[in-house]
Amino acid sequence: MDRITLGQLASMKRERQPIACLTCYDATFARLLEQAGVEVVLVGDSLGNVIQGHASTLPVSVDDMVYHTKSVARALSAPLLIADLPFLSYTTPAQALASAHRLMGEGGAQMVKLEGGAQVLDMVRALSDFGVPVCVHLGLLPQSVHRLGGYRYQGREAGAAERIRADARALQEAGAELLVVECVPAQLAGELRQQLRMPVIGIGAGADCDGQVLVLHDMLGAHRGRPPRFSRDFLTGQTGGLSGALAAYVAAVKSGAFPGPEQTLF
Ligand code: KIV
Repeated sequence: MDRITLGQLASMKRERQPIACLTCYDATFARLLEQAGVEVVLVGDSLGNVIQGHASTLPVSVDDMVYHTKSVARALSAPLLIADLPFLSYTTPAQALASAHRLMGEGGAQMVKLEGGAQVLDMVRALSDFGVPVCVHLGLLPQSVHRLGGYRYQGREAGAAERIRADARALQEAGAELLVVECVPAQLAGELRQQLRMPVIGIGAGADCDGQVLVLHDMLGAHRGRPPRFSRDFLTGQTGGLSGALAAYVAAVKSGAFPGPEQTLF
């Protein structure tokens, strides 16, 4: 099967066909995600939480990311595979290139994702100049949880929203080709979708995005403690089991039924 390309994602944006994305960390689920029609698979550093049992993503290493990316890559043929550059693995252009080399060369990812705005512009530019497709992540940045003071919604005040808009524009000019925007008001996400050429994938950012992503364990109801309020359990009550839950997620993203008003907090 042909691999989904960034050009196809850009066409989906233009044609207003929502892009379905989920995180994944192993080969068995990778196969199920592909069968369900997920177009973009993200090996997120959320594996620090859901696989390794840490309280944050900070302990995740490049070695961890390579291990899980390889496992997922072995089982995927069509979806675009993105892998996260983990905490402090992209503090200089040279370090970002070396880390991306490992995720793509050893891991088999087709794109890398990194968190941040103005502070990562040089790294995005260097990666893009050397042929590495880059997804950027704005809004709630889990790798900055201690600076943010918790997992809180971002961009709710006018100044903060304007910084996110300016960062997104600058990152796109630096070469970013996809944006994940996490826990921002739906109106801000909608403005980003309209203003940017690159597709905008939301998580906790309302329905007016080019696509949606969730952490796999959250949408299967397998979270630790209270589930995120922007997520939905697609497995409980599902007669089709895991495959049915994944297919229901893809269908809900495609039809615009997810996220609904109850998952849109701001
Ligand atoms: O690491 C991750 O799973 C992510 C998603 C929350 C988008 O970055």
